[in-house]
Amino acid sequence: MYNRSFVPALGDHRLSPLYDTTMSLLTCERTWQRAFVKQIDPLPRDVILDVGCGTGTLAILLKQACPAASIYGSDPDPDILTRAENKARDKDLLIHFSKGYAQETASVASAIRPNKIVTSLVLHQVPLSSKRSTLLSAYAALRAGGELHIADYGQQYSPLMRMAHRHVQAIDGFESPQPSADGMLPELLLETGFIAVQEHTVIPTPTGSISLYSAMRP
Ligand SMILES: C[S@@+](CC[C@H](N)C(=O)[O-])C[C@H]1O[C@@H](n2cnc3c(N)ncnc32)[C@H](O)[C@@H]1O
Repeated sequence: MYNRSFVPALGDHRLSPLYDTTMSLLTCERTWQRAFVKQIDPLPRDVILDVGCGTGTLAILLKQACPAASIYGSDPDPDILTRAENKARDKDLLIHFSKGYAQETASVASAIRPNKIVTSLVLHQVPLSSKRSTLLSAYAALRAGGELHIADYGQQYSPLMRMAHRHVQAIDGFESPQPSADGMLPELLLETGFIAVQEHTVIPTPTGSISLYSAMRP
């Protein structure tokens, strides 16, 4: 059983109101999100679950890119979910948000049977055992032929990016982000049973490089 605590969006609940501004400055958010939405390619009959959706920015972009797609977001933090709900409501978008841990994706998604699961900037925050259980649960939640898309701090290929990534480790701790920074995510995806594992793009940011991965449930 995993620890049912979670690291808040900016490492401290008191900083959550600053989350959107901080992310846009420190992660080149527009650049990686634009590439990520293109990679996910939301289509009218898609059922897409954003795991660890935070303030809902990605879920909103997906809904705007394809209004006919059904978009869901889950996150364990009730405060951040309220922010996501308010943002979607302000834009007149119907997105379904609910409380849930990534490690419980299969039960969160049991009623919706997504054909795409997406997650951004979550896996690096959780310990290695939770990375494994999150991927297993996402695998169980997906329909056959379904896709998992991940945007996160992945392998830090250069000394400059390894140095920049220390900013993230100052907030999230050293231990949890390190396996991702060492390039373990593709290996973990294959271990889980995913196929067609790909690292599509590596985007340098002031806080380390963000990699966009995809994988398929056979
Ligand atoms: C850095 S934020 C990323 C939010 C959003 N996905 C984005 O790209 O802006 C990390 C999010 O993961 C959530 N989180 C932390 N631990 C989690 C877990 N075990 N399962 C699901 N979400 C988790 C936090 O509440 C927070 O909203």
